[in-house]
Amino acid sequence: MPAPKKLFVKTYGCQMNVYDSERMTAALAAEGYAATGTPEDADLILLNTCHIREKAAEKVYSELGRLRKLKEARPGLRIGVAGCVAQAEGAEILARAPVVDLVVGPQAYHRLPALLRRRAAGERPVETEFPEEDKFEHLPQDRRARRAPAAFLTVQEGCDKFCAFCVVPYTRGAEVSRPAARIEAEARDLVERGVVELTLLGQNVNAYRDAGGVGLAGLLRRLAAIEGLERLRYTTSHPNDMDDDLIAAHGTEPKLMPYLHLPVQSGSDRVLKAMNRRHTAAGYLRLIERIRAARPDIALSGDFIVGFPGETEADFRDTLALVEAVGYAQAYSFAYSARPGTPAAERAGVPEADKAERLQRLQALLFRQQAAFLAAQLGRTLPVLVERTGRMPGQMAGRSPHLSAVHLDADPGLAGRIVEVRIVAAGTNSLTGALVAGSGPRTD
Ligand code: SAH
Ligand code: SF4
Ligand code: F3S
Repeated sequence: MPAPKKLFVKTYGCQMNVYDSERMTAALAAEGYAATGTPEDADLILLNTCHIREKAAEKVYSELGRLRKLKEARPGLRIGVAGCVAQAEGAEILARAPVVDLVVGPQAYHRLPALLRRRAAGERPVETEFPEEDKFEHLPQDRRARRAPAAFLTVQEGCDKFCAFCVVPYTRGAEVSRPAARIEAEARDLVERGVVELTLLGQNVNAYRDAGGVGLAGLLRRLAAIEGLERLRYTTSHPNDMDDDLIAAHGTEPKLMPYLHLPVQSGSDRVLKAMNRRHTAAGYLRLIERIRAARPDIALSGDFIVGFPGETEADFRDTLALVEAVGYAQAYSFAYSARPGTPAAERAGVPEADKAERLQRLQALLFRQQAAFLAAQLGRTLPVLVERTGRMPGQMAGRSPHLSAVHLDADPGLAGRIVEVRIVAAGTNSLTGALVAGSGPRTD
């Protein structure tokens, strides 16, 4: 038997890319490729790229520069560019980086085996169509592989919102929801292979609605009925798609974890309007109030952009005020980056120095809120899903219901179990806990 060919996948960007990389790896396993952790061993290297900010996209070209040396040493090495840069730049990548053998956009991953055959026949294929067929139905799963306790599952892809700064509607296409029955089957398969916690993914996951009319709340209830599946999460949501049913589910569905990532981007109505967000700061705060009424202990997370074209110091202060009013458990914040092809890229920008200064002020505030949230966990006993070995010998790492990282001294045999942990220390990014004596898997 010939030795299996080896595949190295490097993943950039969001959780959906992580999920896609797994699916591509499974699809190529069916073609005889075994995954490797080192590019030096690989026969095929795939870069699964992100286009969201200029820095993210540029990383790809510096990586391709490094890979050139590997390919010079081994001309048989094949290099593919996948993901959102592939979708946005297509054939330009081949022109800019001669080292690249093929380019494949996110909607065409199921065509990878065919693209490799076209490459073997001497072509340098570029596939950035949005094909009619459902790629997930044509991407095989590796059903034998045992899975880590927490997994991602894409339920919805694409975005119809067209925020003025964002490339996602162009790179991922229009909103498409997968059929609930297919999602349930995939979830059951994951649970059989050891998964305890599922995070449902979508660029606008709360806009999920399948052809049978099942919305995200209905889908969550359906998945919550799966025995052995203990925890459910979903990300990322848009404020305008947070409907009553979904808010209510946070109060009634015990498997739905008390954590919500709900990006607002800015606290200034003027800026929100220029961003085409179609919601106001006050509307967002009212929504937060309703969510907290349903689930008082919910941990909130968000995304913020500072220095959007036209943002003044007064607008920025409105963002700080909104952050003060909400009190986030954690959040992501970015300096605005002009992206080719988006409406905002045509507008006059805020000076880089102002963006950097505002970002620093916002991050200092968010950092204080995160530290306060973690400090408030001190002395509490929390159910922690033990996921993997920790940094220190004898240590394991897991997640609290609020998605905080928790380190604890524990036996590796506890991986995949939900155990009661008393929080004994709070850092700036994570918690340290001690296993409560007699704590085993929860039976509720
Ligand atoms: N709904 C999507 C959002 C993806 S982009 C999802 O699946 O998560 C994640 C975040 O990146 C956005 O919420 C926004 O805060 C930020 N972002 C998007 N475009 C940006 C740009 N041009 N410059 C800076 N930040 C940006
Ligand atoms: Fe981008 Fe806005 Fe869509 Fe989120 S909702 S993916 S920020 S366009
Ligand atoms: Fe990046 Fe595409 Fe995700 S641009 S954030 S990889 S949807």
